[in-house]
Amino acid sequence: MRILLFSGKGGVGKTSVAAATGLRLAQLGYKTLVMSVDPAHSLGDSFDLEATLFHGATADPVQVQPNLWIFEINIQREVKRHWNEIASYITAVMRTTGLSGVEAEELAIFPGMEELSAMMYVNQYRREKQYDVMLLDCAPTAESLRFVSLPTTLDWYMKHLFNFERKVIKAIRPVFNRMSPVEAPPDAYFDNIAGLFTKIQGIDAVLQDPETTSVRLVTNAEKMVVRETQRAFVYFSLYGLTVDRVIVNRLLPDEINDPFFTGSRDSQRRILGEIEAYFSPVPVSTVPLLNHEVVGMKGLLEFSARLYPGDSDPSAITSTRRPYSFSKVDDHHEVHLHMPFAQKGEIGLFKKGDELVVEIGTLRRHVGLPSSMSALTPVKAKLTDGVLVVEMRTTA
Ligand SMILES: Nc1ncnc2c1ncn2[C@@H]1O[C@H](COP(=O)(O)OP(=O)(O)OP(=O)(O)O)[C@@H](O)[C@H]1O
Ligand SMILES: [Mg+2]
Repeated sequence: MRILLFSGKGGVGKTSVAAATGLRLAQLGYKTLVMSVDPAHSLGDSFDLEATLFHGATADPVQVQPNLWIFEINIQREVKRHWNEIASYITAVMRTTGLSGVEAEELAIFPGMEELSAMMYVNQYRREKQYDVMLLDCAPTAESLRFVSLPTTLDWYMKHLFNFERKVIKAIRPVFNRMSPVEAPPDAYFDNIAGLFTKIQGIDAVLQDPETTSVRLVTNAEKMVVRETQRAFVYFSLYGLTVDRVIVNRLLPDEINDPFFTGSRDSQRRILGEIEAYFSPVPVSTVPLLNHEVVGMKGLLEFSARLYPGDSDPSAITSTRRPYSFSKVDDHHEVHLHMPFAQKGEIGLFKKGDELVVEIGTLRRHVGLPSSMSALTPVKAKLTDGVLVVEMRTTA
C-alpha cells in the first residue's frame, strides 16, 4: 500500500497532478483513491464530473473510472459523524454569547477538522486494506504542513495535557458551573476527543515510513515558487516525511518561438537547472504548459502522458532514506536529521523529557528518542551538507 501526498504553493497544479496520477495508477491496475485534503475542493471539477453524479463534497468516495475513486470530504457531514460531542459543546458555549444556532454551529467547525477527518479515513482505509494507493491532494503548503503535523501534535496533547485537563475539569466542574454562565465540558466531550485520537493512532508511523508514504512537491519554474518549495522540503523533513520527487509544471514548450516568450523561457530553463541541482538526488519531473485547461478524462490523460512518459509507475518506491536516523558512534550516540535547505541560524534544539525538540523558524517538532537514548543530552550539533548531526551523551 502506498500513500502519495501532493503539496506545493497555491495554483501550481497540485490537483491536476494528483488527478492525472490517480488516472495513471488506475490504468496500471491499482485500486486507487484520490482524496482532497483542501477545503477548497476542486477534484470533482478536475474530472469534469456531472453535478448529478458528484455534488462537490461527498460523504464517501465516488467511483469515477474502473479502479479509481475520488473523495472530497464534506465537513458538515464529518462533524455529525465524528465530532458530535465536541461540536455540540462548542455550539452550546457559542450560544451563550448570543449567537444564533446556525452561526454557533458554523463556529464549531474549526481549522484542522477537515484535515483530521481526512487523516482518519486514510488510517481506516489503510487498516481495512481498501486501496492499493491513496493520493492526497493537499491544500497549499502551510495547510498541508498542519495536516502532517497533526498526529504528532495530537499525540503530544494526549500524552501531556489531555488527562490533566480532564481531571482539572472534573475537580472544578461543580464550582465552575455555579459561577460561570458557560457549562464546563461534559465527560462525553473528552470521550469524543479520546475516540478521535484512537482513530488516527498509528498514522504517524505510516506517514514517516518512506516505503509507504512519499511527498511529491509540485512547483513552477519561478523564483518565488522555488523558494517556497525549498521551505516545504525542510518542513516535511522536520515532520519526518520523505520527499521523493519534485514536479515542475507549466514549462513553456519548445515549439513556442514567439520572441515575446524568449525571456520567460530562458529564465524557466535557468531555474529548472537550479531546481535539479538544489534537490539532487531527488528526481525532478517536468510537465509543459498545455494549450488547454487540465479537465476531464482527455485533459487528464494528456497531462499524465506528459508527466509519466512511457509506462512509468508513479507508485514506485524511489527513495527509502528516512529524514531521521539514530545511531551509536564510538563512545556516543547521534541523531541525524536530513534537512537540506535549513539555515544554521534558524535551527533551535533542546531536550525535553525523553524527546528532542527541533525548531525551524516558527515550526517545532518533538522527536521521540529511542529508549537507549532517552536519558542522554544533546551536547553538540553540526549542520553539514544538509544533515544536522546531534551528538548525544550522558552528562553527569
Ligand atoms: N500544465 C498545465 N497546462 C495548462 N493548464 C494547467 C497546467 N497545469 C495546471 N493547469 C490549470 O491551472 C489551473 C490550476 O491548476 P490546479 O487546480 O491543478 O492547481 P492547484 O495547485 O491544485 O491549485 P490550488 O492551490 O488552488 O488548489 C487549473 O485550471 C488547471 O487546469
Ligand atoms: Mg488544488
